[in-house]
Amino acid sequence: MGTYHIKDKHSYTQNYKTSIEDPETFWGTIAKDNFSWKRPWNRVLDWDFSTPKVSWFEGAQLNITENCIDRHLDGNGDKTAILFEPNDPNAASEAISYKELHKRVNKFANILKSKGIQKGDRVCVYLPMIPELAISILACARIGAIHSVVFAGFSATALASRINDCDCKMLITSDGGYRGAKTIDLKSIADEALLECSGIESVLVVKRLHSEIPMVKDRDFWLQPLLEDASELCDAEVMDAEDPLFILYTSGSTGQPKGMVHTTAGYMVYAAYSFKNIFQYEPDDIYWCTADIGWITGHSYIVYGPLLNGATTVMFEGVPSYPDYGRFWSIVEKHKVTQFYTAPTAIRALAKEGLEVVEPYDISSLKIIGTVGEPINEEAWHWYNDHIGKRKCPIVDTWWQTETGGIMISPIPNSFEGKPTFATLPFVGVIPALMDENGIELKGNSVEGRLCIKFPWPSMARTIWGNHQRYKETYFSAYDNMYFTGDGALRDENGHYRITGRVDDVIIVSGHNLGTAPIEDAINEHPAVAESAIVGYPHHIKGSALYGYVTLKNANNSSEALKAEINQLISKQIGPIAKLNKIQFTTGLPKTRSGKIMRRILRKIASKDTSNLGDISTLLNPEVVEMIMENSQ
Ligand code: PRX
Repeated sequence: MGTYHIKDKHSYTQNYKTSIEDPETFWGTIAKDNFSWKRPWNRVLDWDFSTPKVSWFEGAQLNITENCIDRHLDGNGDKTAILFEPNDPNAASEAISYKELHKRVNKFANILKSKGIQKGDRVCVYLPMIPELAISILACARIGAIHSVVFAGFSATALASRINDCDCKMLITSDGGYRGAKTIDLKSIADEALLECSGIESVLVVKRLHSEIPMVKDRDFWLQPLLEDASELCDAEVMDAEDPLFILYTSGSTGQPKGMVHTTAGYMVYAAYSFKNIFQYEPDDIYWCTADIGWITGHSYIVYGPLLNGATTVMFEGVPSYPDYGRFWSIVEKHKVTQFYTAPTAIRALAKEGLEVVEPYDISSLKIIGTVGEPINEEAWHWYNDHIGKRKCPIVDTWWQTETGGIMISPIPNSFEGKPTFATLPFVGVIPALMDENGIELKGNSVEGRLCIKFPWPSMARTIWGNHQRYKETYFSAYDNMYFTGDGALRDENGHYRITGRVDDVIIVSGHNLGTAPIEDAINEHPAVAESAIVGYPHHIKGSALYGYVTLKNANNSSEALKAEINQLISKQIGPIAKLNKIQFTTGLPKTRSGKIMRRILRKIASKDTSNLGDISTLLNPEVVEMIMENSQ
């Protein structure tokens, strides 16, 4: 049997043990005792990693929004569900109670229906961090439509490919958004994308900037007037446990992003349970995660996890540097934030500004602080611990992925301590394994290998939209009967895990996953370019930054202007987040005799770690290595 609240070391040990020895009883008890169901399940878990097929709570029926909202109305209806902090520090914050959230989600859901959206239809959401972003995804879930949120920093081309990949019928966007001192013009990006998206029947437009924007007749509709006429009542659609809840795209090792499909019941149970315990959420807490809802962190730990627990979740529209680098801490003081969850890249950027921007604020309300998205370096961990947590707040260094839906490895405050740069121990129900390159599991402690998961957990993605074969090849083919994460990790002498970074062609820049292939594809579209290779190198703020080696068709064409054009092309195809920090023009790339680019060598050169390049004599063209080293930046 499992307990919903893990209070101490003993209860972690007990819960972990039961979850591994008898997962069906464990998760069945958690699910039955803590959520509302319209019909119970026939079977808690059915799985086969060779297909792969995983289903949790099959036969059960529910609606996740009833669990996120309706369930709290009796007794907690007036409690703040979403606390919206606008970009402008002088503008009023907005507290949306559970009662009001209920009305606003229902109204929005009725508008979706009036525009022809039905259960199973895909709706793309391309919005800044305003309340309508959370409300629109809940409205989709209310009527069983599958939401696909695209981060508002992505370009028109990237948006169009995501809309088309899952055949979205509707797009929800805004006339723009605020980001620090800048505004972003989302609607014109959306309009450009929609030239390529014939499947979109209607566009709902939220007014945020109040700017004049073109509206396409019979396709584009302002949201506000529709809301005025919409009913506040909308029955929650009855969903099967394994009905898709959302699609969220993540980068992969080929150009096409992967639409990870998350389903309803398992995701709900795991997001709620992990939120409660990793953040040790108590009813009067004010929880704040600084991520964008365009990423999985925002889905699971701004919207679903907190609301499923009846929590107050802060949503911040702006950036850490506006109006100055004290903004995060001013918000913590203003709302008396108790749990604060951010990314190592933000911690490093803030630490660089010195304590002058922290000290003016009273951040003593903090109880637990967290990080996510990339390995946290020791220096950043200590700064966070000393100056933000004041050595009294446990740090939860949470390792997980878009694909895992919820946190997989993390300290649990009160149960066991964190250790700098270590994600520590698996969460309840998670069985990690470290594998060597020959597919042999590394048993025991003090080993390092590739991180896999041996047993299904409730919130794992079930497939890649429209491409189950790719799902199988990417995650279940490297090792028999295991989910392969794409990360390397070590297990120390006490069995604690430290994530060492990606072992595939994904580079994490400022906490954002970027596949090298789509960036190379974008560069190679430039008529002057023959071929290119992208690698990551260590960067003091971003964690990793991108280094591009570009071979031109005509070497005489190399120029600073061409570098700028290459970055413009990347911005257009993917978004500014994928721009290269350094570009080196080369006359060739080191290749194996079978023609494969030797990225390992390029990575070492970019990282200025050339003392041991290994044996390069077997390369097809060893002479280029010397030349690349001489001209490296
Ligand atoms: O490499 C790991 C890194 O981020 C990857 C997942 O990225 P994404 O799907 O965008 O999800 C990010 C938010 C959950 C992982 O494969 N990563 C995430 N958290 C950590 C981490 N690396 C080290 N430590 C972490 N805490």
